[in-house]
Amino acid sequence: MSELNKIALKIISNGKGILAADESNGTMTKRLEAVNVNSTPENRLLFREILFSSESMKKYIGGVILFDETINQTTSSGKLIPDLISSSGALPGIKVDTGAKILANSSDEKITEGLDGLRERLKKYYKLGARFTKWRAVYIITEKYPSILAINCNAHSLARYSALVQESGMVPIVEPEVLMEGNHSAEICFEKTSEVIKKCFDELILHKVDLSGIILKPNMILSGDQSINKISNEEVSYKTLECLKNSVPSEVPGVAFLSGGQSELEATKNLNLINKNNNTNFIMTYSYGRALQQSALREWSKNIKDKVSTQNIFNHRAKMCSLASKGEWSSNLENL
Ligand code: G3H
Repeated sequence: MSELNKIALKIISNGKGILAADESNGTMTKRLEAVNVNSTPENRLLFREILFSSESMKKYIGGVILFDETINQTTSSGKLIPDLISSSGALPGIKVDTGAKILANSSDEKITEGLDGLRERLKKYYKLGARFTKWRAVYIITEKYPSILAINCNAHSLARYSALVQESGMVPIVEPEVLMEGNHSAEICFEKTSEVIKKCFDELILHKVDLSGIILKPNMILSGDQSINKISNEEVSYKTLECLKNSVPSEVPGVAFLSGGQSELEATKNLNLINKNNNTNFIMTYSYGRALQQSALREWSKNIKDKVSTQNIFNHRAKMCSLASKGEWSSNLENL
C-alpha cells in the first residue's frame, strides 16, 4: 500500500468524511453577510475555530479543507489551525486552485486556474501541515454545454495539478463539479457527468497519476434545480452509483461527494441511500461544505460567542453524515 493510498484511506474510512471549510474570502463573506455577521478575518477564524474544536472532529471528520487565509491563522489559545485539526486526529488539507475564470472562446464556461507557481506553493503548504489538497473544476449544463473544450481543458488541468500534488507527498482531491443549476433532466446530468469524469481519468492516466492516491469529489446525479421532473432519492442513488461504476477506475480508493446546494437533509438522505445500495468497491462518503455547516452557521450568527450551541448543531450534522456514509442513517435520528 503506497503512502498516498494510506493518507487517502485515513481521510475517508470508518465512517469519516471531509469538512470542506475552504470557502474563499469572497464566498465566506456572502455566507456571513447572509446571516448578518461582518466578514472580518477574526470572525471567519472564530467560526472555523469553533467547528475545528468540536467533539465530532475526532469521530466523524477525517480531513478538513482549508483556504489559504485559514491555514495561516492561529487560534485564540495560540495554536496554529493545522495543529488544532491534527490534534483531533483529522488531516489538514488545502484548496490550491485560484478559482474558475472565463474560458477563452467559450465565454459562458469556466476554466479553473492556479497551475503557475503551484509546485512552490505546495512545498509551503506541506510544511504548514497539509497532507491533501483540493482543485475544483465547474461545468454548466445547457443545450450546448459542457463543451468538449471545457471538458478537455479542465481535465488537463486537474491531471497536471494531481501529478504535482502527488510529487509533493500529498493526496489530491479531484473535483469535477457538474453544477445542478438549470432545467435539465437527471438523465442529462448522468450523461454529462459520465463524460466529464471519464475524460478526467483519461488525463490522470496520461499524466501517470497514482489513482490509488487520489480522492474523487463528484456531484451526485440529480435533475437540475429548475427541472419540473425531479427524481426520487432512491433513483438519485442508483443513477449516481451506475455513473461512478462505469466511469471510475477500480484503483481509486473512494469518492467523497460535494453537496452542491442540496439541503443538509437531502445530502444526508442521498448519501445514505448511495451507501445502502452501494454495489461498487469504492468508499462513498462526504466532503460537504454547506451541508455540514449551514445550520451551525445560522445558530452561531445568533450569538457569535456561543460556542456550545454551535458545536451541538455541528456535532449532530457530522454524526448524521457519518451514519449516512455507512448506510445507517434514518430520518427519525434527526430529531433526537
Ligand atoms: O468545492 C466545493 C466545496 O468543497 C463543497 O461545498 O458541499 O457546499 O457544495 P458544498
